Amino acid sequence: MKPKPLQIGDLIIDPPTLLAPMSGYTKAPFRAICRRHHCGLAFTEVTSAKGIARRSHRSLRFLETFPGEYPIGAHIYGADAETLVRAARVIESLGRFALVDINCGCPVPKVASRGGGAALMRDPQKVHDIVQAVSQAVSLPVTVKTRLGLSPELANVSEVAHAAEEGGAKAITIHARFASDKHRGPADWQALKRIKAERGIPVIGNGGIREARHALEMVAQTGVDGVMIARAAIGNPWIFDEIHHLWAGQPYTPPSVEERRAVIAEHLRGLSHLIEMENRGRKTPIPNEQIACRRFRGHLTRYLAGRPGLGDLRRSLGELESVEAVMAAVDRILN
Ligand SMILES: Cc1cc2nc3c(=O)[nH]c(=O)nc-3n(C[C@H](O)[C@H](O)[C@H](O)COP(=O)(O)O)c2cc1C
Repeated sequence: MKPKPLQIGDLIIDPPTLLAPMSGYTKAPFRAICRRHHCGLAFTEVTSAKGIARRSHRSLRFLETFPGEYPIGAHIYGADAETLVRAARVIESLGRFALVDINCGCPVPKVASRGGGAALMRDPQKVHDIVQAVSQAVSLPVTVKTRLGLSPELANVSEVAHAAEEGGAKAITIHARFASDKHRGPADWQALKRIKAERGIPVIGNGGIREARHALEMVAQTGVDGVMIARAAIGNPWIFDEIHHLWAGQPYTPPSVEERRAVIAEHLRGLSHLIEMENRGRKTPIPNEQIACRRFRGHLTRYLAGRPGLGDLRRSLGELESVEAVMAAVDRILN
């Protein structure tokens, strides 16, 4: 049975299936495609609050959206309340985001060694103070994405989730792994069930949804209010459709070859267009089509996963530097 819509502040997310923030992947074209296929809410890539607060072009380009792309959560990292408040104000002033999501789980050194991301988990009081300060500074709902703890020895997600809720977070996403796991290993759904039972705000479960049916299993086993999907959506934005159909008890038909080709072309052209938009703020514009083809590689191999000829395509990726060349290679594989 389909779960209730997810309510984050005044925002209604229906269906409660979310696309996770993924650096290098969740740019506007991919988000727009997922949203069209029954993804209820998508997030930007993680963006530096410091950079946003300074309105640096480099950071603001991570917050670029396509017209009509809504709702979108701005996903940011930072180590102190003042910077995060300034960033949240900039985000609100852009007028295109539905919420501000604070990263309290990223283990990447660039983020955690400066006190942001997973490092915030060391200090639940700081999480409280940050969430409170940001919630009071902007009218957008503030949410938090965190993990089970820094490591199994430091498993303090209950304290962090409590601190976030007390600080005024309107929802919390739990990636059911430790920061020390990075993205590997099994996700602990029992922990999701526990946090859901402990908290009054909506809890969004993340981790270990590799196929559509796992989303239903996560909700059934843990009672979470929403599910967030990361890797399983790369190359398969239709996973949201499939979940939607499973919840509705309707048969699901996977995309035809023509639909797959059309989405691949739309995604790649969208990336090229996005770079064209970003170029407006660059002193030296970068060749949009060529860079789009490079940025698309991770998606492309996943769109074509399991098909004969993929090995050859991987070997020739470096030569595919125009939309035409990529689409010709796609056609050789799909036909
Ligand atoms: C390539 C990649 C980039 C990611 N970037 C971010 C990020 O910027 N912020 C974040 O909170 N999590 C990030 N994650 C973690 C995902 O959002 C998600 O929590 C994790 O992959 C578990 O979900 P999954 O099992 O559905 O893949 C990233 C994951 C991947 C694979």
